Amino acid sequence: MALQLFSTKPLNVIMDEASESGEGSLRRALGPVNLITLGIGAIIGAGIFVLTGNAAATAAGPAIVISFILSGIICAFAGLCYAEFASLIPIAGSAYTYGYATLGEIVAWIIGWDLILEYAFGAATVASGWSGYFVSLLDDLGLHIPPQWIATPGTQLVRYRGHWQQLAAIRQTLQSAGVNPSSLPHAVGVFNLVAFLAIALSTFILIVGIKESANFTSVVVFIKVAIVFVFIAIAGAFVLHHTGAAASNWHPFVPANKGHFGEFGWSGVARGASVIFFAYIGFDAVSTAAQEAKNPQRDMPIGIIGSLVICTILYILVSGLLTAVVPYSTLNVADPVAIAIDATGVKWGSLLVKAGAVAGLGSVMLVMLLGQSRVFYSMSRDGLLPKWAGAIHHRFRTPWISSLIVGVCVAFFASLIPIGDLADLVNIGTLLAFAIVSAGVWVLRRSRPDLPRPFKTPLVPLVPILGIVTSIGAMLSLPPITWYRLIGWLIIGMIVYAFYSRKHSKVRIAAAKVKKEQGAVT
Ligand code: ALA
Repeated sequence: MALQLFSTKPLNVIMDEASESGEGSLRRALGPVNLITLGIGAIIGAGIFVLTGNAAATAAGPAIVISFILSGIICAFAGLCYAEFASLIPIAGSAYTYGYATLGEIVAWIIGWDLILEYAFGAATVASGWSGYFVSLLDDLGLHIPPQWIATPGTQLVRYRGHWQQLAAIRQTLQSAGVNPSSLPHAVGVFNLVAFLAIALSTFILIVGIKESANFTSVVVFIKVAIVFVFIAIAGAFVLHHTGAAASNWHPFVPANKGHFGEFGWSGVARGASVIFFAYIGFDAVSTAAQEAKNPQRDMPIGIIGSLVICTILYILVSGLLTAVVPYSTLNVADPVAIAIDATGVKWGSLLVKAGAVAGLGSVMLVMLLGQSRVFYSMSRDGLLPKWAGAIHHRFRTPWISSLIVGVCVAFFASLIPIGDLADLVNIGTLLAFAIVSAGVWVLRRSRPDLPRPFKTPLVPLVPILGIVTSIGAMLSLPPITWYRLIGWLIIGMIVYAFYSRKHSKVRIAAAKVKKEQGAVT
């Protein structure tokens, strides 16, 4: 009985299902450059545009640059492991499918349940970040949304420099500027309606299946990367002309710890790394396009590692410049990149950054919501979730019920939970998935050394072990409350597994049937 918990789904069944469901007939049109573009499209989002400022201001200071390097290294280990799986099981799967093939049903369930944290809560995080830039852009254009509808319940807001901002986040800025907060217009958040509507619209787009065409995706990615380059160019020129100010903003590079773990000092660098880890999430999305790749065996690893390397370089430059242009303590705002570009005096820069962020973050939301409905679809096909979760709409041909349920839940998460809490939960969930995928590579090397592996993770078991250890290390530097939430989430998952999934699992039902037939023969 206990062993059945670890029954794996045979690889040949996974491959057969992929072709049965029509996924096998997807056109193989993506080359290495398309895959790298796809990866960058999924990666660059709220992490670099919002959370970097937050993490620099509250945890790492200018040493956020080191946090980015550390987080990039964690992702490189996990990315090498994802690449082996993506080339070995080149179907439109995910960590969930890899887990089912290697570590068994219970682990696959845990990953699937855990991926809800990555995708559904991830989409909510990005929507929350998106709303910050969108509201700020509208403000600049003279359109003002009532403040109580732009923030999560209970958030104290003050109007400062033409924008409604979170009081807790800008208290220090006000103090340095000698401004008494009580002298400013004040409001309290009720519901982040903007984030809610953003998810509602994305869900609608996904359900009616207005497929993001490859061209549309490429345009959005181009805009996003162009904005990042514009920022690097403007901020870089500013720093070159104001080396004194930049040097003083970077001093001290690692601000002294404030007496608590994670508040500056080296523990702050570690906390910063686990916060901005969010900025790297998305490279695994490349693996979901395995069946549309012309040469998945060669190109999957190129897509995953290539997009990761490019984003790491961009992130190091952006975070370094951000903290050189303005004092890190002023970056705890909803639109830190725009604030920094404002400080350079280039008037059109901030409008451009805001418009680019609105377009760019929008596509990340879509990718995440799509990822979530695909995972539900796979789990329902395996019997671990009810059939309706995988039901396809007869006209739109999209998994509409799961998209709708996911959309409604995500819209409420985005409008009710603060962005920092959402991001922490996404990070801990995704790091757990990374640790399990790394372990999966190692296990499969031992249990099925015979399988053809077009891309091999180098230095096994060292790289998988480092993947596991660094992911768990980053999880440990997240606040205890995030751990309690993760544990609570997994307990709920186990209850659903015990009372529903275990009884309806197709792999188990098939195994039981074979056993019965064998019993009848003997
Ligand atoms: N990496 C993605 C972002 O930063 C999820 O928004």
